[in-house]
Amino acid sequence: MVFDNRVTEMLGVDIPIVQAPMGYIARSQLASSVSNAGALGIIETSSGRLEEVRDEIAKMRELTDKPFGVNIAQAFVRDPGIVDFVIEQGVRFVTTSAGNPQQYTKVLKDAGLTVFHVVPTLRAALKAVDAGVDGLVVEGSEGGGFKNHQDVSTMVLLPLIRSRTEVPIIAAGGICDGSTMAAAFALGAEGVQMGTRMVSALESPVHENWKNAIVESAETGTVLLKPEGQPALRALRTDRTTRLEKGEGNPMQELGAGVRDLYFGGDLEAGVALTGQVAGRIDAVKPVAQIIEETVEQFRQTVSCLAASSGAG
Ligand SMILES: Cc1cc2nc3c(=O)[nH]c(=O)nc-3n(C[C@H](O)[C@H](O)[C@H](O)COP(=O)(O)O)c2cc1C
Repeated sequence: MVFDNRVTEMLGVDIPIVQAPMGYIARSQLASSVSNAGALGIIETSSGRLEEVRDEIAKMRELTDKPFGVNIAQAFVRDPGIVDFVIEQGVRFVTTSAGNPQQYTKVLKDAGLTVFHVVPTLRAALKAVDAGVDGLVVEGSEGGGFKNHQDVSTMVLLPLIRSRTEVPIIAAGGICDGSTMAAAFALGAEGVQMGTRMVSALESPVHENWKNAIVESAETGTVLLKPEGQPALRALRTDRTTRLEKGEGNPMQELGAGVRDLYFGGDLEAGVALTGQVAGRIDAVKPVAQIIEETVEQFRQTVSCLAASSGAG
């Protein structure tokens, strides 16, 4: 299966699948396996640990000669030096998220980078296009991680933004295989981004307890926390996140506090495990290369079935 569209062209990849930026997780071990499989690995900055991120980018160059990207999660990386830092790294593709697209788009593009901005609403999409982005990552609220308080699903958001903008779209939120990728393409996307599927990949650095919790989770197994004055976030339902849902405690603080013991120690009650509803469709921990290969094959089959059943084939 050969993909040839604006996303493969702009990202310089064979397969328009992007591994989501995820604090502490989207690092060289995972991202290099995605890029080496012909898709696009992304290195995170939301951990705010720029020295570690610099090392991870150096490691990427040892682990792959394929393209990869970097994400600037604006609300989490307040150091304005982040732009020079990213430009210095020589990466060609960057996504910006959790902030105003006017802030960094022009300076990044003037430096020759391709910029996609992550948007959770139509209003944000129109603002990003006005700021001059090359493309959009359209992220529905069923996805894991930081969300907009006004939650809109991918099925609604994607065709709405497609109908009102021209730039290429990478769809995110609820995508884990070829049938959901085909659905996203039918709604106007030219690429997809996977978060929860990649958290539970073999090369993901998190503890297997989290990966297994994703595999065992039902589609109803997440909570959408909407703390006042903080970004909303979707996470695995645990005793701790159920308490947070009732307003007991501070989600962002507990997220940060739990990184070591939860992400890498495997204690699911030690913090907040950002996870999407698509966990309910993930039934095994798999190597990245297998995830990508199966997704492409299932995409091909889904598209040809659709064509055949509609007489378009
Ligand atoms: C553990 C985790 C951490 C995340 N951290 C970030 C981040 O730092 N920056 C960002 O733009 N998105 C972040 N996200 C959102 C993802 O980029 C992605 O859009 C989302 O996971 C897609 O939905 P899915 O989980 O259904 O695949 C995170 C998601 C998860 C699951």
